[in-house]
Amino acid sequence: MNRHIAALNAYPFDRLRSLFGRAEGNPELPPLALHIGEPRHAPPAIVLESLQQNTAASLGSYPLSRGLDTLREAAADWLEIRFGLPQGSVNPNTMVVPVAGTREALFSFCQAVISDEHAGPLVAMPNPGYQIYEGAAILAGAEPHYINTTAATGFLPDLASVDAATWQRCQLLYLCSPGNPTGQVLDIQAWQQALRLADQYDFIIASDECYSEIYVEPQPPPLGLLQACQQLGRTDFNRCVVFHSLSKRSSVPGLRSGFVAGDANILRDYLLYRSYHGCAVNNAIQLASAAAWRDETHVQANRSLYAQKFAAVTPVLSPHIDLYQPQGGFYFWAGVNGDEQTFAQKLFAAQNVSILPGSFMSRATTSGDPGQGRIRISLVPELDACIEAAHRIATFTQHEWIREI
Ligand SMILES: Cc1ncc(COP(=O)(O)O)c(C=O)c1O
Repeated sequence: MNRHIAALNAYPFDRLRSLFGRAEGNPELPPLALHIGEPRHAPPAIVLESLQQNTAASLGSYPLSRGLDTLREAAADWLEIRFGLPQGSVNPNTMVVPVAGTREALFSFCQAVISDEHAGPLVAMPNPGYQIYEGAAILAGAEPHYINTTAATGFLPDLASVDAATWQRCQLLYLCSPGNPTGQVLDIQAWQQALRLADQYDFIIASDECYSEIYVEPQPPPLGLLQACQQLGRTDFNRCVVFHSLSKRSSVPGLRSGFVAGDANILRDYLLYRSYHGCAVNNAIQLASAAAWRDETHVQANRSLYAQKFAAVTPVLSPHIDLYQPQGGFYFWAGVNGDEQTFAQKLFAAQNVSILPGSFMSRATTSGDPGQGRIRISLVPELDACIEAAHRIATFTQHEWIREI
């Protein structure tokens, strides 16, 4: 077997299952699951209708890795409108690749990018972060380098904390904005700093923007990497690739649909890689995806459902745990004043609410483990369930947890 497989870490949800072990959540209360980031709002009607119309016909042919023109054009148009890019600046034929969700794309991109030409390849990533970045680096034979995001760094990765020797080995930098789990958004200065480093040390930036459409208005929509490039006069998007998904934007995680866009030279090689990798997206899914990218009405409705949840849950939780309002995404990254794993375990036992211990998404570094003492609360259940969960967490912190700490 590939020796790197043994180096992979257990996935956070498997770790949560092990943490709970055979313990049952409080049987007197119905279970409430706020640990997983799986959107649960109803899928948009335009997606369902399109699937109904096109599924049967799609089954008789192999889809192409480069995808349908219709989808690439819809994605390019969406990028230009959403991120204020000049019309025609995203060439749908050379700058967009449809993917079967960003998870596989974030993973496969790293396999395509990492070169063993130079000794000791390294992939840098935010800590805490989406675990796929780490697994992708390990399986590509690169060393993951964790860049801490803490309260002191505004819950964004502090690129200045990375030394020159590390950047010299870096071939790929993953950034996530809005971040999972912190919800914070990189501003133009942060993107400029990342781009300067990428040029200086010759690496690629993979910007995971799958939460870009989930934010609470009137906050401005999160800035994206291609938008930052445009503002900085980098119109060829050199070294830059963004990852967009319908899973969160359109609440269709089961559709498995997203796209990668940016630097045409990188995407040409990535597309060649993908023709071997073989996860071309079914044509009916592509047509439904094109319809979804061309519609903003359902996205607006989806966004306001999350905004309602933040508005309802914040006053219930904020007196009891250390909360800040994220700039995007649908998570609270909250401090619990004590051990986060014990918190998760005892909350489950007392209130039948599951949340994710922060340390299941973070790694210990020489300057500490930024997930310690934090939990991720995912506002994916229906509004009433989120409110009920918030009350149960509040009750727990006032009784069982106060005795514990
Ligand atoms: C930060 C981040 N990136 C990417 C993904 C993958 O999303 P999908 O594969 O559904 O596009 C997720 C899913 O939870 C995520 O949290």
